[in-house]
Amino acid sequence: MPKLPETITIPSAVDIHVHLREPSTNKAETIESGSKAALLGGFALICDMSNNPGRPTWTLRRTMDKHNRIWRTSYIPVATYAGSQPESNNERELPKMAPLSIGLKSYLGETTGNSREYAAADFKDIWQLWDLLAPEKPIMIHRGSADLDEIISFTAGELGHRTHICHTNHPDEVEIVHRAKREGLPVTIGVCPHHIFKTSHDVLTEGEFAKMQPPLAHQTDTEKLMHLLAEGYIDIVESDHAPHTKAKKWGAEHTSGSCYGVPGIEFVIPLLLRAEKKGRISRERIVNATSTMPAYIVGLSLSPYTKVTWAMEEFRIEDEQEQVISGSGWTPYLGMLAVGKVQRATVKDKELICDGLIVGEKPQIVTRRGTII
Ligand code: NCD
Ligand code: ZN
Ligand code: ZN
Repeated sequence: MPKLPETITIPSAVDIHVHLREPSTNKAETIESGSKAALLGGFALICDMSNNPGRPTWTLRRTMDKHNRIWRTSYIPVATYAGSQPESNNERELPKMAPLSIGLKSYLGETTGNSREYAAADFKDIWQLWDLLAPEKPIMIHRGSADLDEIISFTAGELGHRTHICHTNHPDEVEIVHRAKREGLPVTIGVCPHHIFKTSHDVLTEGEFAKMQPPLAHQTDTEKLMHLLAEGYIDIVESDHAPHTKAKKWGAEHTSGSCYGVPGIEFVIPLLLRAEKKGRISRERIVNATSTMPAYIVGLSLSPYTKVTWAMEEFRIEDEQEQVISGSGWTPYLGMLAVGKVQRATVKDKELICDGLIVGEKPQIVTRRGTII
């Protein structure tokens, strides 16, 4: 009889940084396809960012539109962020959006949906207002070239507001956040799988397909980032699942325009489990950085309600048609080895995945501040 692979059962993952793109002019993903990729990648909850191209989540109407679509088509619960930019003039909308949103997203640097750089000072009014409206809901920072000390000392320092620094690509940022934590400030920092498993070298061979904001790091820095994650100086892993179609990426390649972002949520946990096998990170840290801590940042606690059983087989990510679930149809992790296929996923004893297949109805989970019930 063939030997069955070893299995492990761990809490389901939580991804507080994804872009599902619906509704928007970017047709690479839908809530349905993105949430399916997340479910089959071991996630029980994902949080959707506000920069929908052509339709940023700046109003109550758009927030409710997203929620309706999520309710109708998502495979797992999806929380949404409110967006506000200095030019969005939506201070009258924020009070209405705050109760329905999991946090506020601020884009201080150029990326999909934002074409310019801002300084911390440009956002102070928005942050102050958010602090009044939703004192417990985090401010998520896409930093760009703004001064990190200045951001943290205002949001986490002066306002005392929970602040999360998204997608670090440099150990110096981790150091700044560490210093702020030592002063007792409520600040956390996350890293994406592409900033630890890929390097700036990949841009030479993959071109636009390896471009995102912030850019891939030099190899010595990716190694340091992995170490900082393993030691707990970096709090969480966030996928920054940012789908663009292959055609869009190719187009940008030929017009030297920019199309920042890469998909990949279905491979986050398997890449980390492979890193564990290689002795680069402990199981305990993986669970903390992909489940406990991200849930804590957005004010939720899922364990012990959600569990995923992984068959610990090693596989190569080599067939996009077969293995990629995201509607984008491609992955930046092609060619890499990974460990783990989801066998079973449960939420409060309700089975969502059985024998590797999605079963039953879509989960109907009510989220309440503090717990998923
Ligand atoms: C993201 C996207 O495409 O929405 N792109 C990226 O390069 N990371 C936006 C973002 O997170 O900055
Ligand atoms: Zn960003
Ligand atoms: Zn993002």
